[in-house]
Amino acid sequence: MSGTGTNLQALLDACVDPGYGARIVAVGSDRDDARGLERGRGGGCETFVVRLSDHPDRAAWDRALSVTVGAYAPDLIVFAGFMKIVGKGFVERFRGRVVNTHPALLPAFPGARAVRDTLAYGAKVTGVTVHLVDVDVDSGPVVAQCAVPVLADDDEERLHERIKSVERGLLVETVGLMARRGYRVEGRRVLMREPSDTYPSGAAR
Ligand code: GRF
Repeated sequence: MSGTGTNLQALLDACVDPGYGARIVAVGSDRDDARGLERGRGGGCETFVVRLSDHPDRAAWDRALSVTVGAYAPDLIVFAGFMKIVGKGFVERFRGRVVNTHPALLPAFPGARAVRDTLAYGAKVTGVTVHLVDVDVDSGPVVAQCAVPVLADDDEERLHERIKSVERGLLVETVGLMARRGYRVEGRRVLMREPSDTYPSGAAR
């Protein structure tokens, strides 16, 4: 993560309840000053930083990130405000297990300026998308979405804050469901395991 970490904080708070079904094994960032590192430490998690500037190129950074993340053997990797694009190596190693949250209703307004682009376009409805990460930007299978209206007097900050208040809830709910019930991916569809479904938990891997 590389933002202010409010989505991460919502996950940390949810994980305090053993019934939530997930626990955070580590919090990582590409930046030393990411607020989420402090939040992670506050929640008793291990933290790590894998800086792009410590590596000769993007591919080397991507490999280092894969090794560091892989050492924790995570069932799920959640990009909660992580603003770097990971490479093919990372995506392939953890395919089906990397979740990203995006402040728009994909496939509308992908990319780092989603909220600004939404306002510039004049859209009346936007929202949040929780999706699996694949090799292209904000293009992986959708796990969950929730709509948020765009109000006449919205500016980027106001709209993003309103989106984030919905985003935190959707992310917590979705990650909890993925952890507790398991899921599978059929083409572009992500299907939560039903209680009667004999498909193994986390079989999307
Ligand atoms: C979220 O809206 C996320 O989707 C976007 O940046 C924001 C990060 O917020 N990529 P926070 O750091 O979790 O507060």
